Amino acid sequence: MPCLKLSPLQSRFAASLAATLLLIALYLILPYPGYPGFAYAIDVDSIIQEDHNHPISVDVDIPHNLDETTPESAPASNSESTSAEVIVNIARRAPDGVTALENNAAEEGEIGLGETHHFMFPREALAGPKSDPTPGLPGDDENEFIGDFLSDQGGLNRQNSTLAKRATTVYISANVCSQPSLTATREARDAGPPQLQLYVSRSEETQQPGPGSRGPGIDMKNFAGGHVSTIFDAEGDLYIGISAPRNDRYSGKYKYEIAASIDQPFHKAEPNVPYLFFVDGDSGSALLQTNDTTQTNPDNEIYKKWMSLDPPPFTVFAHNINDSSIIGLENSFCGLKANAQIRKDGDNVQISMTNRGDKNKPKEQFYIKGLNKSSSYYGFLAMEGNSTKSGNGVVGGGGKVWKAMNFTTKAENNCALIHNLDFCSDVAYAVPSNPSLSLPDLIKLYDTHAASLYKNFSRSLAQIPCNTDPKSQYSLARSCNDCAAAYKQWLCAVTIPRCADYSSTQTFLRPRNVAQDFTNGTTSIELDSPLRQLVLSNSSRNPMIDEQIKPGPYKEVLPCQDLCHELVQNCPAALGFSCPEGRWLNASYGAKSENGDVTCSYLGAAYFLNGVGKTWEGLDIVLGVVVGVWALVWML
Ligand SMILES: *[C@@H]1O[C@H](CO)[C@@H](O)[C@H](O)[C@H]1NC(C)=O
Ligand SMILES: *[C@@H]1O[C@H](CO)[C@@H](O)[C@H](O)[C@H]1NC(C)=O
Ligand SMILES: *[C@@H]1O[C@H](CO)[C@@H](O)[C@H](O)[C@H]1NC(C)=O
Ligand SMILES: *[C@@H]1O[C@H](CO)[C@@H](O)[C@H](O)[C@H]1NC(C)=O
Ligand SMILES: *[C@@H]1O[C@H](CO)[C@@H](O)[C@H](O)[C@H]1NC(C)=O
Ligand SMILES: *[C@@H]1O[C@H](CO)[C@@H](O)[C@H](O)[C@H]1NC(C)=O
Ligand SMILES: *[C@@H]1O[C@H](CO)[C@@H](O)[C@H](O)[C@H]1NC(C)=O
Ligand SMILES: *[C@@H]1O[C@H](CO)[C@@H](O)[C@H](O)[C@H]1NC(C)=O
Ligand SMILES: *[C@@H]1O[C@H](CO)[C@@H](O)[C@H](O)[C@H]1NC(C)=O
Ligand SMILES: *[C@@H]1O[C@H](CO)[C@@H](O)[C@H](O)[C@H]1NC(C)=O
Repeated sequence: MPCLKLSPLQSRFAASLAATLLLIALYLILPYPGYPGFAYAIDVDSIIQEDHNHPISVDVDIPHNLDETTPESAPASNSESTSAEVIVNIARRAPDGVTALENNAAEEGEIGLGETHHFMFPREALAGPKSDPTPGLPGDDENEFIGDFLSDQGGLNRQNSTLAKRATTVYISANVCSQPSLTATREARDAGPPQLQLYVSRSEETQQPGPGSRGPGIDMKNFAGGHVSTIFDAEGDLYIGISAPRNDRYSGKYKYEIAASIDQPFHKAEPNVPYLFFVDGDSGSALLQTNDTTQTNPDNEIYKKWMSLDPPPFTVFAHNINDSSIIGLENSFCGLKANAQIRKDGDNVQISMTNRGDKNKPKEQFYIKGLNKSSSYYGFLAMEGNSTKSGNGVVGGGGKVWKAMNFTTKAENNCALIHNLDFCSDVAYAVPSNPSLSLPDLIKLYDTHAASLYKNFSRSLAQIPCNTDPKSQYSLARSCNDCAAAYKQWLCAVTIPRCADYSSTQTFLRPRNVAQDFTNGTTSIELDSPLRQLVLSNSSRNPMIDEQIKPGPYKEVLPCQDLCHELVQNCPAALGFSCPEGRWLNASYGAKSENGDVTCSYLGAAYFLNGVGKTWEGLDIVLGVVVGVWALVWML
């Protein structure tokens, strides 16, 4: 699978950072023909701007943290102004009612419906210094979903002229953190208050852009989901307006953050792809995961770095689909952080790295508690700041949010979500359970049972000539390790069934254990039901479940056929494994769905993670006819 690389623009950018810094500095200090001049500016700054030969005395206290977050700059040899002084200049030069923005520092504001706020990003700020490159996430230029390559493609407003060479790329971004509320009585489905608008003017004539501002050099962009981000190639001051449309149905104010940066967007959103996947859930919890964060192998440094990231870089937010309070804030990190029902600081989210599943690549997992049964939720992948640090002075300090996905919790309480097992470490799904059993006890019952069966298998395998000399080995292509691995996958998937609601009507599900009463004591189904007469449906596939766990009736997602095929292919014939055929195959195993839906159980499954285009080797395999003793035991 090819990975997308950093865009050429970004790589060039990084490589020539030092050179650019110097150029920009020179450019700002030596006025060039056509330099807009200072006609517009208020008296103080023309003095400061033109005299770079003397330290500029200022009577404003410079906050200490500014010194720390802004690396020492050397704009040019004949200038003695320091970065802190530049910042103070900026603040003093802003016209009344206009707030000057500093590089990578968000300004917060509260704006009422019908109001407009004004900001500027002065040309002094364009001169840098740019922030030092940070390590970022391991190998993030290799990975489509971690890299920020998308942010460079929004450059609709970039100048297409020779001037662009002298210009600095400026990222302007804003997030809405809270919104006005509905005044009218709550409607069934509230579409949310109107989105704010961002106005940017590069024209000296329009220093306070807002609704009604028109003309060359003025751009307007609507917020979407409480977020806006845009790129400009700027040479002079940028004037910014944030405007809230009028709307009588809502009252209160918007809280927002706005920031400008010459490094990267301060606030980020990826509104097109979720990169968050539903593994499984029960009536009160859910397990989500990212896609693989790297395709490298376990001995690779990037792989090792990923697995040892502590804490892991991503977080999640979840919110009931039926609750409208986050509508209009879906792309805003601060909006979700303040309003989502489920978030990490609420102690409802446990995060960790795992390499479970297909090919054992690193990924981050999110175990979420505190959910309601039979409810659908939006899940958002997010990153706080740059993952290790957030807030002002941090490049990308405003955080990032990916597109929402959705998932639904189970209705009944006799399926329990388990993960992080010791032996069957790749198991992560809901299993038949009983509400009276604690999760650790439940995990122990399943895991020790599987481990003891495996022990007996190991004894049998030990009697087969394995890693001896090639002539006596059962196959040149497969080793006993391959067989042991295939057996473990098959064994865990088959002895630890994947559980679904008994009330679910999905056709690929198989009713199990219907002869037992429901866990609430209700007699299950009619005594004369044919389901009661079949071993296949009146019991579980594993007697331990009915006897020790007593889950009552449930439905099972059958193990995938290719688990059996892999087993037969990888193990010596002497072990007597073979897969059933035709009707019997369909009775014991399920088939994978092409669209990535989980229609059969395999270890590492996550909904719609391996969708379209996934080749399924298992289908093409021609199998032996004999139904082995082993397979028979587990068919039921
Ligand atoms: C995040 O930013 C901080 C401060 O700018 C920096 O020290 C750190 O290395 C950055 N983290 C990553 C993962 O790049
Ligand atoms: C930019 O200029 C080049 C060459 O002058 C032209 O081919 C291209 O279409 C222009 N792009 C835009 C977005 O105007
Ligand atoms: C949630 O919304 C769906 C569809 O709008 C509706 O069928 C369901 O009853 C709602 N659930 C709750 C708990 O309100
Ligand atoms: C659970 O349901 C209750 C009652 O309907 C509701 O108030 C609460 O917000 C819901 N919580 C979640 C996390 O969905
Ligand atoms: C859940 O997500 C799927 C796929 O992205 C989408 O088709 C479906 O409409 C979503 N459901 C809701 C209730 O938003
Ligand atoms: C493993 O083999 C031993 C001896 O053959 C047998 O007593 C035991 O029941 C077997 N364990 C399982 C879980 O089948
Ligand atoms: C017991 O649980 C079953 C299945 O969840 C449900 O259909 C039934 O209505 C419940 N009975 C009572 C008395 O709650
Ligand atoms: C399940 O069905 C079989 C075959 O009809 C029968 O022998 C067995 O007693 C049934 N089990 C239960 C628990 O009803
Ligand atoms: C087995 O199931 C598949 C679909 O799951 C179906 O196409 C096939 O015809 C079934 N085979 C038999 C023998 O029932
Ligand atoms: C997950 O990542 C793999 C490997 O990079 C890729 O092939 C696959 O398309 C991704 N899946 C989704 C749903 O994005």
